[in-house]
Amino acid sequence: MKYKSVAEVFSQISKSYDRFLHLATVGRIHSWQRELVSMMNPSGNWLDVGTGTAEVLVKIGKDYKGLKVGIDPSFQMLKIAERKCKDCFFLQGIGEALPFKEKSFSNITLSLVFRHLEDKIKFLEEAHRTLQDKGKIGIIDVARFKGTFVLAFLMKTLLKPIGFAIFGKEKWEFFIHSVEESYSVQEIDNMLQLKGFKTEKIKKKLLGLIYIISATKTA
Ligand SMILES: C[S@@+](CC[C@H](N)C(=O)[O-])C[C@H]1O[C@@H](n2cnc3c(N)ncnc32)[C@H](O)[C@@H]1O
Repeated sequence: MKYKSVAEVFSQISKSYDRFLHLATVGRIHSWQRELVSMMNPSGNWLDVGTGTAEVLVKIGKDYKGLKVGIDPSFQMLKIAERKCKDCFFLQGIGEALPFKEKSFSNITLSLVFRHLEDKIKFLEEAHRTLQDKGKIGIIDVARFKGTFVLAFLMKTLLKPIGFAIFGKEKWEFFIHSVEESYSVQEIDNMLQLKGFKTEKIKKKLLGLIYIISATKTA
């Protein structure tokens, strides 16, 4: 799905996003994000890709030694982020074309974003370029589960008229995209290896539906 369409959906829900995510994860998102933060390098410039309302950057804390930068294509999400993190820097943009020079960052995180990237491989190349040697990438996302293909098929066929009627075409297509674009932990690990990262830690939550991965730049 084109990043502009994804960003448009998030712009529309920006005001209720934090509340929605808290409810949808029964508040667990906060501990997952804190765990992600604890898996990263302890200092150096930090880029949060698809930062949304800056929840990851807020959790890094005020004492962190290094710049905290968030990038997101949704201007509405960034407006909220700016209010929440006063000592952070924000830019409108996408993970596939990072406007930073080589080796700018020590850490790059993505919380619930990887699935939404239009070009995952291009992003990993950009992350590799902009990370310092031994820099880390950290990802939280929803994993592909056994029924993913069946669910996506039903959403595109049997459930489509109901989905369109309740949510509208744009949101329903976004839901299908969210389901279809999820990857298994093994697939993520393979992609990371292919693009010059070595997976360090993998944590699974909610019976494996959510994964948290950290990997280090190797070459
Ligand atoms: C589910 S939200 C996650 C927000 C935040 N990271 C969090 O954990 O609450 C996904 C975010 O990814 C952003 N996004 C969509 N496509 C993107 C892209 N290609 N590059 C970077 N961010 C993107 C959306 O605008 C949205 O803010």
